[in-house]
Amino acid sequence: MILTGCVNVNGEQAVEEATPKAIPPISISRGINLGNWLEAPEPGDWGVMIEPRHFSAIREAGFDSVRIPVRFSAHASAHPPYTLDPIFMDIVDEAIQQGLQNGLYVILDFHHYEEIMQAPQEQAERFLAIWRQLAERYHEADDNLYFELLNEPHGRMDDGCWNDLLAKAIGEIRVSNPERWIIVGGVDFNHIDALDEIVLLEDERIIATFHFYEPFKFSHQGASWVENAAQWSGVQWTGSEEEKQAIETVLDEATQWSRLHGMPWLMGEFGVIAKADETSRQRWSAFMADQARQRGIAWIYWDICGEFQVMDCGTGKWDQSLLGALMGGR
Ligand code: BGC
Repeated sequence: MILTGCVNVNGEQAVEEATPKAIPPISISRGINLGNWLEAPEPGDWGVMIEPRHFSAIREAGFDSVRIPVRFSAHASAHPPYTLDPIFMDIVDEAIQQGLQNGLYVILDFHHYEEIMQAPQEQAERFLAIWRQLAERYHEADDNLYFELLNEPHGRMDDGCWNDLLAKAIGEIRVSNPERWIIVGGVDFNHIDALDEIVLLEDERIIATFHFYEPFKFSHQGASWVENAAQWSGVQWTGSEEEKQAIETVLDEATQWSRLHGMPWLMGEFGVIAKADETSRQRWSAFMADQARQRGIAWIYWDICGEFQVMDCGTGKWDQSLLGALMGGR
């Protein structure tokens, strides 16, 4: 384990244990990310506005959960006590309520905290203060509200920093929410391999998450936020044995990890940009959802109406073929 500047309090606990453990069951099985909405700098900046009608459509389509990415860092003061903006928080309250009222599990995800990726130690106090406020605000909310600590740690947020910070954040949350499910992923943008470096805590209500976009040149072809992605236009996913095997191997590893540690796990993001050819996109999505289902991995598709969209949020129309591909096993 490489440490660059952050204290790793419990590093030695990361050593693997040998005996498989019972995995506590979780109720989430298939969901959708409400991406590009509350994690844009301001809601609406990235062209997505989610309304009550979308929540009922999500439920009717057969999803059981929504992940709501929120850029809390853009709505909290820069100085202690780092107060969250009450007007913005009304929008978050309403989003959570809409999800819960529609019978959906709701994952509240702290997304796009770019400053902490560059300066983990300087931002740690602010991160913890924001979680303290969120935990207090929602401590009486339905159990079907789950918290996700931080989307895709990367940059200077290495294993050492992250293990230190996640333990402290969970400590803050547990003061007011002793039983709530908390979702935690590894560094390197929630890469599956980074799960091995997470220091496991004595806490029965933690779910491990990973994100999966492989082959990346296929899923992210033409993505404006990824360097050189314009050159990948036209990359297909044909569903050859080799392509399938590459995915199955990784998912098998995830399954092993979960069994070894007795921790439920979740594929919190996966998807293909809408610029990819339709057939490849459906084929990959159907295969992924099916492979996850076979291994009992809960999944959350990225995303509803953003660049990986499965719905046109304006008209409320689903891409029925892609939806069908995801829901194949229903
Ligand atoms: C990022 C989004 C991005 C998506 C696919 C998410 O974790 O936050 O901005 O669109 O991954 O790359």
